[in-house]
Amino acid sequence: MKQAAASPSSAHPMDDFPVRKLEFNFDNIEFNDPLWSRSHRDFSMLINALGVHVPHFERYLVKTMIEARPKIKDENLQGDMSAIIGQEAQHAKNFLHYNKWLAKRYPKIAELENGAQDFFNHHSKTDSLKRKVGYTAGYETFTFLAGLIILENYDRWMKDSDPVMKALWVWHQVEEVEHGAVAFDVYKALYGDAEWYRKWMVLAALAHIASETIKCYTAMTIVEGYWRNPFRGIRKMGFCAYMLSRFLINALPVFKRSYHPRNHKLVSGKKNTIQIAWRRYEHDGGDVLSINREKMAEMLGIANPGA
Ligand SMILES: [Fe+2]
Ligand SMILES: [Fe+2]
Repeated sequence: MKQAAASPSSAHPMDDFPVRKLEFNFDNIEFNDPLWSRSHRDFSMLINALGVHVPHFERYLVKTMIEARPKIKDENLQGDMSAIIGQEAQHAKNFLHYNKWLAKRYPKIAELENGAQDFFNHHSKTDSLKRKVGYTAGYETFTFLAGLIILENYDRWMKDSDPVMKALWVWHQVEEVEHGAVAFDVYKALYGDAEWYRKWMVLAALAHIASETIKCYTAMTIVEGYWRNPFRGIRKMGFCAYMLSRFLINALPVFKRSYHPRNHKLVSGKKNTIQIAWRRYEHDGGDVLSINREKMAEMLGIANPGA
């Protein structure tokens, strides 16, 4: 990590990532509507559901990285570990606030979130360091891939959406891509030979993400009344299954021995224009706590704010 040293526009999406201290105001969400994306309301429900347990994983990650850091000899990697600790602490803080806001609409979310908190607290205390680093690297595979997939599909899923929620998710996904190789590198540095265990942890993490997401998503579909028509309920669940299977398909390269996050085709291929534009805009002091169409157009350097 070099604190915002190089120009973000020219860097690899994983280079030079700083800790950004941002605090989002969820009281400003338009119409107080948790289905905040008018481009794709099911997407907002899915991402809300996926996010509920994530701050508790992020705190588990922070504790794991703090425990592992003294064992790492590479100073650059140590620096990246400090940066991921800072970024994830900021994520957790904001997502815990967001969960409180969500629970007003979906009371069951508070209960499900408590279960997630207990799970990660317990495992943080009882797991071996190898398990913690492996599980963290497995999880980070999917937060990183979700970051890439969501930014690539911005137009389809988020273009017309609440400015605070758009800002929150663009920020989170950009940073997940930025630090997407750190936990992987820590695992390789400490347990590089244990390739099967690394792959097993990728599957364990996906199974946990899927079960947490499905529980929260189902609770939300009930509150939204989708099951009054069972066919509608099933169709809504189909979108959840589609998104989770998309994560799995994009995770397939992770099972190659030669895999490294920096070389994933979604990173090394066409670079994500929103990621580059957001990093440059934030680096130059732009306000990224709320992003409406005009601001996104300004960020992307587009004259027409239909962006
Ligand atoms: Fe995060
Ligand atoms: Fe992360």
